[in-house]
Parts: sequence; C-alpha cells; structure tokens
Amino acid sequence: MRDAAPQTIYLKDYTPFGYLIDSVELTFKLHPTKTRVLSKIAFRPNPEATDNRFFLHGEDLTLISAKIDGQDVTVRHVDGGLEADGPARAFIWEAEVEISPSTNTALEGLYMSNGMYCTQCEAEGFRKITYYPDRPDVMATFDVRIEGEEPILLSNGNPGAKGEGFAEWSDPWKKPAYLFALVAGDLINHPGSFTTQSGKDVELNIWVRPWDEHKCAFGMQALKDSMKWDEDVYGREYDLDIFNIVAVDDFNMGAMENKGLNIFNSSAVLASPETSTDANFKRIEAIIAHEYFHNWTGNRITCRDWFQLCLKEGLTVYRDQQFTADMRSGDVARIENVLALRARQFPEDQGPLSHPVRPEEFQEINNFYTATVYEKGAEVIGMLKTLVGDDAYANALDLYFERHDGDAATIEDWLKVFEDATGRDLTQFKLWYSQSGTPKVSVSEDWDAESGTFSLTFTQSTAPTPGQDVKDPKVIPIAIGLLSPEGEEIQATEIFEMTEATQTYQAKGLSVRPVPSILRGFSAPVILEQDIDNTRRAFLFAHDTDSFNRWEAGRDLARDALLDMIENDAAPSALYLDSLRKVFADDTLDPAYRAYLQAQPGESDLARTLAAKGVTPDPDKIHAASKAFKQAKADALKDLLRPIYEDNQIDGPFVPDAEGSGKRALANSVLSLITKLDGGTLAQSQFEAADNMTQKLAALSQLVTAGKGTDAITAFYDQWKEDRLVIDKWFSLQVALAGPDDAAKVATALTQHPDFDMKNPNRFRATLGALAGNHAGFHHKSGAGYKVLTDWLIKLDDLNPQTTARMCSAFQTWKNYDPDRQALIKAQLERILAKEGLSRDTSEMITRILG
Ligand code: ARG
Ligand code: ZN
Repeated sequence: MRDAAPQTIYLKDYTPFGYLIDSVELTFKLHPTKTRVLSKIAFRPNPEATDNRFFLHGEDLTLISAKIDGQDVTVRHVDGGLEADGPARAFIWEAEVEISPSTNTALEGLYMSNGMYCTQCEAEGFRKITYYPDRPDVMATFDVRIEGEEPILLSNGNPGAKGEGFAEWSDPWKKPAYLFALVAGDLINHPGSFTTQSGKDVELNIWVRPWDEHKCAFGMQALKDSMKWDEDVYGREYDLDIFNIVAVDDFNMGAMENKGLNIFNSSAVLASPETSTDANFKRIEAIIAHEYFHNWTGNRITCRDWFQLCLKEGLTVYRDQQFTADMRSGDVARIENVLALRARQFPEDQGPLSHPVRPEEFQEINNFYTATVYEKGAEVIGMLKTLVGDDAYANALDLYFERHDGDAATIEDWLKVFEDATGRDLTQFKLWYSQSGTPKVSVSEDWDAESGTFSLTFTQSTAPTPGQDVKDPKVIPIAIGLLSPEGEEIQATEIFEMTEATQTYQAKGLSVRPVPSILRGFSAPVILEQDIDNTRRAFLFAHDTDSFNRWEAGRDLARDALLDMIENDAAPSALYLDSLRKVFADDTLDPAYRAYLQAQPGESDLARTLAAKGVTPDPDKIHAASKAFKQAKADALKDLLRPIYEDNQIDGPFVPDAEGSGKRALANSVLSLITKLDGGTLAQSQFEAADNMTQKLAALSQLVTAGKGTDAITAFYDQWKEDRLVIDKWFSLQVALAGPDDAAKVATALTQHPDFDMKNPNRFRATLGALAGNHAGFHHKSGAGYKVLTDWLIKLDDLNPQTTARMCSAFQTWKNYDPDRQALIKAQLERILAKEGLSRDTSEMITRILG
C-alpha cells in the first residue's frame, strides 16, 4: 500500500525525539495469524528536544488497547503511526497490538519462514511489531517474554526464566529498536564456547533445523576466530553471557547483527564441503565476522539517524576486510575487494543511482543499503588509515570507543575523533562522505636527466552526478613506488597526498629514469588514467613488486586486448599472451593469486569500460570477443595447463582454508582453459570424481559452457534436490551460463519448475538475478531479457518490495546502451512505474533510474 505521495526525508531536518525511554518490556503471545504484542514503555521528556509531540511509528498493526499510566487513552491514527497527548513528565505507555506473522511476505518485522518465527527490524521493521519511536537515536534496555508452543524461544541479551511454553530474555545494554530480535521454532543448536580476554565464559550457539546440523562447524569456528581477532586487533571484548546465531531460509539480505542474537540468511552461515564452494566458505567467514564486529561498531556505538548508516557499515566492512586479509592471503583479499568494488560500486557511482557515502535524502532507507555506503564507505576508512598511519588509526579508534560508547553518533563525531587524536584538519577529507561520483585521476610523467628528477603530475576530476553539478578536489592518498628499468625496486611505496586539482610528485637524485608503479594496493577508490603503452604494462606485469599493481597491469593489458578485439576486430594481443605465459608459468606464486593473474574482465565490466570511453557497447560482440580471447589464452598456454592442473590436485580431506582453496581455484581456472581444448573430457571426469562442491560446480559449469551439460544437470539435480542451498546454485548456474539467445527462455522455464518459489529471496535471486547478470542474455536485442525480469519484478513487488527494489538496479546502466535497447528498457521501467499500488521502495528506485 503506497502512501498518496512518497515523502522525501532530509538529513538537514534531523531533530531529536521528544522523549527518552528508560525501559521497554515486551510480551509476545505467538500465533501465526494473531500474535499479540504487549508493550510497557517508560518514557520521560527529552531535555534536548524542542518538539514534544508524542508520535509512535506503527505499520500494519491492529491496536487492541493503549494506556498511559494505567488509564485508557485516545490515540489519533496518523500517517505512519499514532499520536497521543504525551504528558510533560515521566509516564508509562502500555499498548496491546495484534499482528499476523504468517502473511508477512515482506520479511520485515515479525514473520514466518518454514514454520519458524523470526524478525528483521533494520532499518524500520520494528514499527511492524508494535507502536514505538522506531528511530536509531532512541535507545533503551529491553526485557522480553515470549509465550509460544515452539521448543526454542530466543530474544536479545541474556536468558532469564524459562518454563513450559515461555521464555524470558533481558538485554542490559541500551539499544535502538532496529537491533531487536525474536526467534521461535523447532531448532537445534550447534554449541560452542569462548573465553574472553578478561576471562569471561561466553556460551555460543548456532541454531538450525535438525537437518542442517552438519553445516554448522565452520561458522562456529569463524565466530570464535572473529571474537579473538576483535580482542587482539581492536581490544574489543564481547559483553553478554551468550551469543546466538540463527539460520533462516527466507531473508532479504545476508545477515543481521541484532544484539546477542544474530539472524542469518542460511546461505550466509551454513556450509559443508559437499554442499558449499570455497567461495561460500570465504563469504560465510566474512559475514560472521561482519555481524560479530557490529557488536561494537553498530551496537555499542550506533547511528544517530539512517543518513549515518556508513558510520557502522563502512567501518564494519573495513574491519571484516582486515579480518579476511589476516585469516587468508592479504594480496588476494585486496584484489577481491577491488573487483567487487568495481563490479558493484563503480556502476552505481557512475549512473543514475549515484549518491554520497553519507546520503542527504531518501524516500525509503532500505534502498540505501548500497555498495556505496558499504564498500566505498570501507574504502574511505582505509584511506583515512593510510593518511594518518596505523598507530594514529589505533589511537583514534580507542578514543572513538571511549568517547562514544553508548551513543547514537554521526560522521561528524567520527571525524572529530580523528582530528582530536591526530591534530589533523579533516574538513577536505569529509568530501569523501558528501560528494558522490568516482574521481578520475590522470597522470603524466616527466624526467629531467640532468638533475635526476622524476615528476608525476596528477590531475583529478569528478563528473557531475545527480543533484551535484560541481565537484571540489578531494584528498587522495596515492601510493607510489619506483622501479629500475631492470625491475628492481629503487623506491619503496610512499604516500603522496593529493589535495589540489593538479599537483606534482617528485623524486630527486635518481641515476636512471624509473618506472613508476602508481596507486599501489589501490590506495584510493578512483579511476586511474595512465597514458602508458602496453610494453610498460607488460613490464609491470612481469616485475611490479606491489602484488596488487602487478595483477592490475596484467588486467589492464587483457582489457585493452579485449577492447581492441571488440572495437577493431583485432587478433588477441600477442604481447599479452606472451606476458601471461611468462607470469603464469611461475610456480613460486601463491596459487590463488596465480588464478587471478589469468582471469579476464567480465562482459559487464567491458561494456562499462566502453561506455566510459564514449563507445556504445555491443553485447554480442563483447560476448564473442570474450570467448575468442579465452580460446586464445588456452591455445597460448596449452602445454602449461595439464601440469598446473595436476600439481594443484589435493590428496586428503577437503579443508576450506587459504591454501586448499587457492589450489582449487588455480586448478579450476586451468580447467576452464583445458575445456576450450578438450571439449569437456577432463571436466566430465572431474564432475564424476569430485567429492566437494567446489570441484563439482566448477566442472558442471565447464560442461554447460561446452554445451555438454545436459546429463550432468540432471544428475546434479537428482543428487541434491533435497538441499535448498545447492538447488539455488543449480538454478543460478543454468541461467548465468545460458547463451545469449537462450537466457530469457532458460530463466522462464526455471520459473515454472516446481522448486521455483518467488517468496524465497535466495531462489528468486538465483533465477532472475542470474538473468540480470548474464550480460549478453539480459541485453539481448529482442528485449526478452528485460521483459522477463520486469514481469517478475512486477509480481514480486506485491509480496516483497525490498527485494524487488534492490533488483531494479539491474537497469541502472541502461543509458550506456544503444537507442534501441534504451527504448526497450525505458518501456519496461515505465511499465513498472505504472503498476497500480507500486511499493514506495520500487517507485523510488525506478524514478531515480529513469532520471
Ligand atoms: N545491518 C545488516 C548488515 O549489514 C544489514 C541489514 C539490512 N537490512 C535491511 N533490510 N536493509 O549486516
Ligand atoms: Zn553491516
């Protein structure tokens, strides 16, 4: 149900709530369609507020009774909640409401997933549970009583009394309502324990359905590793007696950091070698860490308002990235983070959805859980650390926890801590939070042989973005190293702080003209434009002592070779193939890193690169060139492939650690080239022999790509039809790998499969999200891809606005394409917008995308 006109909320309009809350008591009487929620809330006037209107949010609630200090009160139902005459003194509000969890398909508030009750309250779901000031700056302690038949009844904090049909929980830490959680169901626990640095024993549990018990061990270990890491690296100790994680099948996002009761999408916590790939294990480890780290960066210190979302998300992503780098290979982790940033955040920042890391307006906050807030938000923290140095960063973080523990804070508070800890003025740095768009940094070189001075002149610029026509120069930390013509490092990495629009870096007293390695480790989220020839790139690919830039040089070479094939029908670059051969043959390199050295840019990536150059991308040509390029690599590396494949097979049990996963990644990347030569023979034997999902799925992908997958697809389904998470892979793989002419048909056929369930976000994304990710298929000139996605988005919007709105971003690059495709897409976007009763979520997204 959409309000008459969607309302825009502005950061500049922030005012504190008129009341403070001392305590909240909630009683839940669970029932699938008639859950009763009784609330008892102690309010008192907020001395810092100017407006004492007593307004409580509420959505889809049936009010049974409302009392103030024990007396029935008359309430006024207003847009988004209710109002009553709030006394100008402390008082007790009591209300009883009725809600219907089993019909809640939006998966926000209290809902049911496969017969179990669970909640998702961030950002504004608590208002679907009871009337409440549902805003993060209102914090309170919660005491919860759950009455229900389910054997397991969980909420936040520490456990209290428990008996037949009820359980009580009490959370001693003040928290905003978005961190509230409740779970009830027939669950079993995979137990664990952790002793904190000060000697406190914490009970740990991962709660799952009985049939998932064998998939918990890895997540439990990741949780313990995270708890230890946060103590060792940030000095942060856990603060309750118990930490519970629950796996839920129907979940809009990855996971949620509810205090002491994290709720996870089952795909983000459950894993076993037979059913999960190395990539799944790695993601699970990172998400468990992320949610656990929120206990300090998010829960103990939360956000004043939702505009400050990056305060907790950017910082927590940054922390989980540091954790992954420490647990696994730091070099590979950095490459993966940058690939993800470029694949998800760059297109957002360079299209109609571009917004600052700290947005200043929104209609639906759920639409701002974006790659910009999360991943660019993390990059901004990384830059801050680079600029102030590791020690100052550690001091600033200590000060942040000391000064703001228990607060609902802002980006201003965060930056002030750094200013106070370091004496630095961060006024200009703050532009990273307020100015949207990806800066371009171009560089030119100069060499003065006489004085031995080498100069790099940098120029930065950022194109206008929606609502921001003028951009000011930002502070950009540029990591620079210098190599000799023989490839020796003659100057270790230095940070050049760029603050002006144009600025020159100089190295003096050099005896030879050096070769610069610029933006090492991807020291800032910018697009570096270097006017260098491919011989230079090949040199860096062979010699750069910075592992990130070495990989980047190879990537740039491959990209240019591909663009030349697409634009000029050129043959695959001999220089590239030759360079790749040399580097790829080096078996002293870490296998995971080596696998990335031969990976080529994806088709969407190439399309965006072309568009950025002002060339209209042709999806068919990009697809054909990508295939031809891969074939050329296979031919060029031919004799190396089989030995690498053999050398990277592992005897013994599957271990999803850095070493094992690295070898499998390299062997599988080689398998994809071998398949180009043997047509799938090796893939078939790997498919048959594999005892783990990493090898099984890679082999299946190769068979499908080679057009030999029919039997394997059937066999795979028969083997795994009882396992939802595996069947998600089965749906997704078929759509993702379908040829350009077939993708829309394959997706449509799968939506008719009995296992397709549009109410389950994982399955919906596995099918329709995979279509959007199949570049040549989605952008098929018939428009069939656009139409199939649109049909389903329109259907899903009635049930689940949040997931619908997120998936609309598939259309965000539409203006990059030719007029025919633009017209086809525009017609679909308008069809969505014209839908009767379109959700606020989707309406905002489509309106922004249309521009
Ligand atoms: N705070 C969660 C996380 O990043 C994400 C929850 C977002 N949920 C939502 N409906 N917007 O870990
Ligand atoms: Zn988060």
